[in-house]
Amino acid sequence: MQDFRFHNTTDIRFGTDVIDAGLHDAITQFGRNVLLVYGGQSIKKSGLYARVKSLLADLNITELAGVEPNPKIDSVRAGQQLAKENNVDVILAVGGGSVIDASKVIGSAYYYDGDPWDLVLDSSLRMDIKQLPLVDILTLAATGTEMNFGSVISNPDTNQKLGTGGPNSPAVSFLDPTLTYTVSALQTAAGSMDIFSHLTEQYFDAETDNDASKGMIEGLMRSVIKWAPVALAEPDNYAARANLMWTATMALNGIVRLGGKNSWTAHPMEHELSAYYDITHGVGLGILTPRWMQYILNEQTVSLFARFGRNVWQIVGDDDMAVAQAAIVATYDWISSLNFPMTLPGVKINDETNFDVMAQSAVKVGHLNESAYVTLDVDDVKNIYREAMQPMKFEY
Ligand code: NZQ
Ligand code: ZN
Repeated sequence: MQDFRFHNTTDIRFGTDVIDAGLHDAITQFGRNVLLVYGGQSIKKSGLYARVKSLLADLNITELAGVEPNPKIDSVRAGQQLAKENNVDVILAVGGGSVIDASKVIGSAYYYDGDPWDLVLDSSLRMDIKQLPLVDILTLAATGTEMNFGSVISNPDTNQKLGTGGPNSPAVSFLDPTLTYTVSALQTAAGSMDIFSHLTEQYFDAETDNDASKGMIEGLMRSVIKWAPVALAEPDNYAARANLMWTATMALNGIVRLGGKNSWTAHPMEHELSAYYDITHGVGLGILTPRWMQYILNEQTVSLFARFGRNVWQIVGDDDMAVAQAAIVATYDWISSLNFPMTLPGVKINDETNFDVMAQSAVKVGHLNESAYVTLDVDDVKNIYREAMQPMKFEY
């Protein structure tokens, strides 16, 4: 196991009564000038917006609406300006990962006089400045942003979608699973795939002596595999939504990564698809993940894939390679059963025009040729993109 330090102070409030009971005080511990950040119409349609406004009726609220999926740097710029003009004490983000991610960077940009894109390009700038406290109400189970330090911000002018880390995770996160009943089938599937991918990224790691993390990840994988189809079939099934929500948080709050060695692979490759084509993150991961697995299965990786097959998919058999291959098929079948497109043409990426530039950026940004579990160079990434143009073929 590798050495590590872990420090995370997010105050998690999980359940159905937590917002009415605690939102007001969670905010006012930081002050009375609030920047309320949200996305499109979902929180208005569900009634959550009206509920929040009523709970905070005595506070000074400035609103930043319209943060889009794959949040754009322009939303952060607008938030920076509003936060400064209104001497904001605390940010309240109500929404999915996009809203919360943008809010985290706004929290840093409040203390920065330049263009917030600088802070995305160079996260170290954020470590030298303060960050406004962030309270959030999560409405979609997927990213884990509610308990981590990361954000992913897009710049359509430069076709870049980049991760950035700040000094703080959210101060308080309200996790009420019933708020996710209204999440569409597509976003439920995409969110579940995102959770699963966070787990595979951290599971397929070269540190062999990290049974604690691998075991936790296997349990979380079984949870998302079990509950995603239930949430799709019964959107208001509390057990399904609650398990997905907590699995999402646990998958990317930093805990299961501890003691591991490698950096991620499918995410850097997917972020290029979202950067160039603005596709839904989880959908891109669903397309790429099984291809990546098939691409890296070899004599060196087979024993870990076999462990994955036995402990996650309950595949039996003595032949490691056969179990490993069956695990990749099971993964592909589970992703397809969530009903989203399984090829790049299925998300309107119909030709290879950008494969080279995307592959170069994925390798550079994600250090895929240096620190990935199985290192990939530009040609490898292009091969994986090319394989994703066709329905997946199994030769076993
Ligand atoms: O904008 P509104 O109207 O709120 O609609 C949203 C949006 O259209 C809708 N939605 C959210 N909650 C809903 C709902 N619709 C009905 N009922 C609800 N309760 O869902 C759509 C997608 O929302 P978004 O916030 O984009 O989804 P998600 O939470 O999956 O976040 C995706 C973003 O997070 C980044 C992704 O790259 C992507 O930009 N990630 C962030 C990470 C992090 N900070 O740690 C890690 C991830 O790997 C990921 O990269
Ligand atoms: Zn993700």
